[in-house]
Amino acid sequence: TSAGVIGAPFSRGQPRGGVERAPDLIRAAGLLTRLREQGCAVKDYGNVVFEDLEDDEPPGLVKRVRAVGSATRRLSEAVQAVKRDGHTTVMLGGDHSLAIGSIHGHAAAVGHLSVVWVDAHADINTPLSSYTGNIHGQSMSYLLHELQPKMPALPSFSWIRPCVWARDLVYVGLRDVDPAEHYILKLLGVKVFSMREVDQLGVARVMEETCDYLTARGKKPIHLSYDIDAIDPSVTPATGTPVAGGLSYREGVYIAEHLGQTGLLSAVDLVEVNPLRGQTEEAVQSTVSTAVDLLLACFGRRRGGNHPPEYRLP
Ligand code: ARG
Ligand code: MN
Ligand code: MN
Ligand code: MN
Repeated sequence: TSAGVIGAPFSRGQPRGGVERAPDLIRAAGLLTRLREQGCAVKDYGNVVFEDLEDDEPPGLVKRVRAVGSATRRLSEAVQAVKRDGHTTVMLGGDHSLAIGSIHGHAAAVGHLSVVWVDAHADINTPLSSYTGNIHGQSMSYLLHELQPKMPALPSFSWIRPCVWARDLVYVGLRDVDPAEHYILKLLGVKVFSMREVDQLGVARVMEETCDYLTARGKKPIHLSYDIDAIDPSVTPATGTPVAGGLSYREGVYIAEHLGQTGLLSAVDLVEVNPLRGQTEEAVQSTVSTAVDLLLACFGRRRGGNHPPEYRLP
């Protein structure tokens, strides 16, 4: 496998600045060299350059809709180019609204895919059900075929075509779901492993069931959208919307290892690392290094150790 890394320094899917600094911080923490050291070919495509749009929409339900519509469109094109070069995409956010562009571009390049959304939040509000107006809490609603009858026309989103069916989506780690989101999840019959199911079944069984469920109707490329706030804030505090009671470091890494081992992982998003939300330098470091470890696990790093196939004992 080879990784194609795209930085997406974008924060306007939510109100807190700082999350746009994460791509460069994650690179500075050694992501690329460590991927190469574990035998993964890496190409860095640099950071997407986003349009500088004013917040000039009429005060309505959806905040900064032009900026997000434009940014996700550019990201979709960047992801399509990386997929056409044959790499597994690594999208370093930025906030989780970017998944609109990342998943859209991935589907445009490879067709039908499965989505594993690892998050404290479901991010499936429609523009009309959201009570924050923040698009990072709405990403999946733009992508799901089944929700299109409930989606208002937003001019800056007219380029987007829904590309995911509810039965191809699995959530892991949920623990802060809005009533409208819960209604949608039940209405569409979406497979959800909330923190309750992680407690009940254990992470190993959750991941077995996730993969069995997604591959029951054939093996499709997997898009992993990993929000760092899925992990417990004691480990990854530097994020905009932390929620107590999250995945342990070990559970978080296990999820990444398991999906990496399927051989189906075709794109990964790592989003919502916000260095300005850490209270101390250690808080930021712990968050960034956990993000790096999750990505290394996606690309074959084993906690029991690895060695290259050509290794010979000296
Ligand atoms: N459900 C809330 C909302 O709709 C919070 C979403 C948080 N999303 C995230 N990507 N951190 O705004
Ligand atoms: Mn979240
Ligand atoms: Mn499996
Ligand atoms: Mn999220």
